[in-house]
Amino acid sequence: MQANPILSGVRTEDDTQEFSFRPQRLEDFIGQTGLKQNLRIFLDAARQRQEALEHVLFYGPPGLGKTTLAFIMANELGTAVRVTSGPAIERPGDLAAILTSLGSKEVLFIDEIHRLNRAIEEVLYSAMEDFKLDVILGKGPAARTLRLDLKPFTLVGATTKVGSLSAPLRDRFGAVHRMQFYTREELCQILQRSARVLGMVLQPQAAENVAGRSRGTPRIANRLLRRMRDFAQVHALAGIDQQVVEQTLKLLNVDERGLDDSDRRYLECLITKFRGGPVGLDTMAAALSEDSGTIEDVLEPYLIQEGLIERTPKGRRAMPAAYGHLGIPYSAASAVMEASQAQIRLFD
Ligand SMILES: Nc1ncnc2c1ncn2[C@@H]1O[C@H](COP(=O)(O)OP(=O)(O)OP(=O)(O)O)[C@@H](O)[C@H]1O
Ligand SMILES: [Mg+2]
Repeated sequence: MQANPILSGVRTEDDTQEFSFRPQRLEDFIGQTGLKQNLRIFLDAARQRQEALEHVLFYGPPGLGKTTLAFIMANELGTAVRVTSGPAIERPGDLAAILTSLGSKEVLFIDEIHRLNRAIEEVLYSAMEDFKLDVILGKGPAARTLRLDLKPFTLVGATTKVGSLSAPLRDRFGAVHRMQFYTREELCQILQRSARVLGMVLQPQAAENVAGRSRGTPRIANRLLRRMRDFAQVHALAGIDQQVVEQTLKLLNVDERGLDDSDRRYLECLITKFRGGPVGLDTMAAALSEDSGTIEDVLEPYLIQEGLIERTPKGRRAMPAAYGHLGIPYSAASAVMEASQAQIRLFD
């Protein structure tokens, strides 16, 4: 199964123009209120002390604005930002080259920071802590360590898998922020802002409708909006109204709850093949011929948040709402099974 990319938060080729939707200043960044307040204080304090800002880590599902915030921070600090990613830094020398080329108080943004290998992480520890770089010269008994001074810099890390980050690395961040899914109202504001960037009129009702099906994720909201713009353009319509939304979503097979084919297949498989679970992730992955990482990181978070499934120590379980959504009766049989499982759990 190829996960339908329209409703996946993961960045695709289709999103290459998304930089045009990126807000440049903190006050234009919609939602994440608590995080924004903290960042504001953090930024103002660093500016007043004329110091480099402490290192910051953003984590959370794809498409919620981690990269956007990293750029906003550099912008607010009035400094340059160097962008790289965990997998792009292959050897300690690569990281050393980047670190020594950073100007004072500049921002180094490392995306997918959980994918840095351990040897490189170790170089990063002293760089983050003391702005020193330990370079090992030579090999074997003749090897020597050379300590280089770095200019103070701010590391902004982003990850979708904070659990894969080693504890020593995580502890070296002055602030660790979790990105939250966006509310409908926030998504409406984001959509209206993006519509203005595209020069389109988006009717409030239509915005509500799209927001409700965007899985709390701005990237998905913006992607749906672009599809609606295409639809409106092809049909020579001036703006995006309810009708455009409905017809576009129908073409994309997105239902009223914001689920697409792959979500429905997942729920159907869980309910019909495994009697609603609990079933292990790998078994689900095999049954769906889908990569278990994609299921865990892309498909499931929204299903969990919507109360359609739950993750238990024994595996995934379908919740009554999932039966309701698919129109499958939540039978007495499954309720009985559930009760006995609850008892088994009690005696575990
Ligand atoms: N709070 C927001 N206000 C307005 N637009 C937003 C906001 N958050 C995200 N966006 C938009 O959503 C899109 C995706 O954001 P971004 O690339 O920053 O996500 P990300 O968290 O870095 O994703 P990934 O984990 O895939 O790297 C961008 O086009 C951005 O403009
Ligand atoms: Mg990003």
